[in-house]
This record gives sequence, C-alpha cells and structure tokens, in this order.
Amino acid sequence: MPGTRFTDIRRFDSIDSTNRYLLEEARAGAPEGVVAVSDHQTAGRGRLGRSWEAPPGSNLLVSVLLRPDLPGDQQHLASAVVALAALDAVDTVVGVRLGVKWPNDLLGPDGRKVAGVLAETDLGAPATRTGATGPPIVVGIGINVNWPADAADLPEGLIGLATSLRELVGRPIARSEVLDALLEAMEPRVGDLGTASGRIRQAGDLRAACTTIGTRVRVDLANEWFEGTATDLTPEGHLVVDVSGTRRTVVAGDVVHVRSREEADRA
Ligand code: BTN
Repeated sequence: MPGTRFTDIRRFDSIDSTNRYLLEEARAGAPEGVVAVSDHQTAGRGRLGRSWEAPPGSNLLVSVLLRPDLPGDQQHLASAVVALAALDAVDTVVGVRLGVKWPNDLLGPDGRKVAGVLAETDLGAPATRTGATGPPIVVGIGINVNWPADAADLPEGLIGLATSLRELVGRPIARSEVLDALLEAMEPRVGDLGTASGRIRQAGDLRAACTTIGTRVRVDLANEWFEGTATDLTPEGHLVVDVSGTRRTVVAGDVVHVRSREEADRA
C-alpha cells in the first residue's frame, strides 16, 4: 500500500499458513512491513492450537511482519493495533462498526465472531540487516469477508457463533478493498507502538472498542480460573476484573480464555 510501510505484499493462491511463512521470513532477516496474503490456507492456525478454515477465495487471510520496540508487558498491543485497524477497515468498506472481545476477537453487533487475530513471535530470530529493533512479531488476521454467506454454510458447532461481512450487509464484498483499507489503517497505529504516548493512545482506542467491559466473564489462565465482572482496561491495555470486590488485572499473554458467563456455561 503506497505511503505505508506495507509495500512488500506477497500474494499466494494457496499456502499452509501465512503466519508460518512470515515467521520463517523473519528468521531469515526480513524487515518490518512484509505482508503475506493468501486465497486459501491448507493449515491455517487459530489461537490455542486450533485450526482456522475458510473455503478458497472467500475470506481475507493475511499476516504482517512487525518489529515493534515494545515493553515486555505490552507485547499484546501489536495484535491490538491490527484488530483496531480491522475495525476501521470494516467501517470504511461496509459501514459496520465491529467490537473487540478482549484481547482480540472481532465481533459483529449481535456478538457473532467476524474475525480473529493470532500473534506469534520468535525470540530466537536475528535482527534485520537494516537494523530493526525488537524481535519479530507476526500478526495474522482472518476476516470473514464472504463466508459464511449465511448460517447454513457453517459447520454445526459454529452456527450462531460466527458471521461474515457479506452476511451482515447482504451483498458480496471485495476482499482487496478490505485489505487496502486494513493496511492503510494499520500504518499510524503501528507507528504509535514506538512511543509511550502512542501506546497509551492505542490502549485507549482498545478500551473504547472493547465490548467485554461491563460483562460477566470467566477468565481461564494456565493454572487457575476465576469469574467476575470486567470493569476496565488499564492504560497498558490489560483487562481489569472485579472478583467479588477484589480487583484483578489480566495480561493478554497469560490468558487462555476470556469467556462470557453464557459461553462458559455452554462449554
Ligand atoms: C483465532 O483463533 O481467532 C485467530 C485466527 C487467526 C487466523 C489468521 S488467517 C491468517 C493468519 N495465518 C494463520 O495461519 N492464521 C492467521
């Protein structure tokens, strides 16, 4: 996209995973800003070791290579800025304002999932030849652009849980328009990761977009779980949960699940 750092866009008809591809490119020293986008993934990765699937040519499957200089407890802002840019892009292209289920699922107005973000990092990767700073973070996003066209397209377990832009607005959407708008919206947000004031601004935007605040949640960590009411995001973007009058702060990287009480009951 001209005027942004995302000018090296690598397009694939089919690939195992755009995240896997960019992590390997990062290991070989690729600079920040490389983009990988594919019509289809044969081994698309979701969070928690899940797979991410979509019929060929239907949805936007894209990853970007970032090398932000982020404090250790704010690494999740790299995926947050991609999620926020996706909100902007969807608003620009189809005029629908999605919300963020903390830390980074994008939900439609009725709470069904429209997109998911997966950030992967490689602490062993070398710095770039061009002298970039931090370790690489590959942020991949899958946006349900045209699939499912309606709920009948979905596997049984996903009915009522996922939707697409096409279903939301009732017409097919050009994936290229969503990609262009995404990269354009990402540029200033990624730029913000490099300064303390920029990071506060992005965490503030995340707070404003976060539909988890005010809801009852069950938080699953590696070794414990608790239930409470999500009351806020901190200036760093961490979730604040009131657990029977005690304030607990949850860091995105520590979280296995943040589920609404209803989701937790269903599971
Ligand atoms: C989630 O579980 O919600 C995250 C899904 C992330 C999927 C995207 S599609 C493009 C990129 N490549 C992958 O293999 N996964 C991410």
